[in-house]
Amino acid sequence: MPQRGRFITLEGGEGVGKTTNLAWIEEWLTARGVEVVRTREPGGTPRAEAIRQLLLDPAGDEPLNDDAELLLVFAARAQHLARCIRPALARGAWVLCDRFTDATFAYQGGGRGIAAARIATLEAFVQQGLEPDLTLLLDMPVAAAQQRLQARLSAGGTGRDRFEQERTDFFEAVRRTYRERAAAAPARFAVIDADAPLEGVQARLAETLEARVAPWLPQ
Ligand code: TMP
Repeated sequence: MPQRGRFITLEGGEGVGKTTNLAWIEEWLTARGVEVVRTREPGGTPRAEAIRQLLLDPAGDEPLNDDAELLLVFAARAQHLARCIRPALARGAWVLCDRFTDATFAYQGGGRGIAAARIATLEAFVQQGLEPDLTLLLDMPVAAAQQRLQARLSAGGTGRDRFEQERTDFFEAVRRTYRERAAAAPARFAVIDADAPLEGVQARLAETLEARVAPWLPQ
């Protein structure tokens, strides 16, 4: 039986630079001989990506009920765990995931106001004890992140998705919840100041990976 792979997640609000830094982390791991499965939530398998569309699509005049949103997030997660994450970890690959359940506590909990205890019930039901080995939280003030998001949207010519259309106080609550969760579980989290030039952020990431991840690498 191969040794179980490691499960690393990257979290943060909109516009903090997750995509660029995820690619950089993947390269860091691959250069050290690790087989990496890079994936994302909501999504990561064809059916889970279909649920993602339902969650992000701003179209239509029927508002999505908060509990329905929460259940869709966990439905996508159950599919992703069963079809992608658990099989990858079991064969010894490392999973690098763009968002996971901390995003649910931040967005559906902090942002929408659903009680954390209700989210924790679904977390236990769906994950049955599985949680990330390391969660990297890219943190920066909401105003700065919103500016970056706006620049990206203008450059790409795309509209805002259903979450990106939320108001500033929603994103303030998301950020606050992420930071509270990081403070409550310092053994699992590393908080990276993302309000800096890319080289600075990546230098901090490198330090963190050297300290926290290098000891897990196969000898
Ligand atoms: P992305 O833009 O980082 O790909 O994420 C898609 C959106 O989904 C983002 O606005 C955050 C939201 N989301 C939740 O609301 N709850 C969750 O559990 C996850 C994983 C994402």
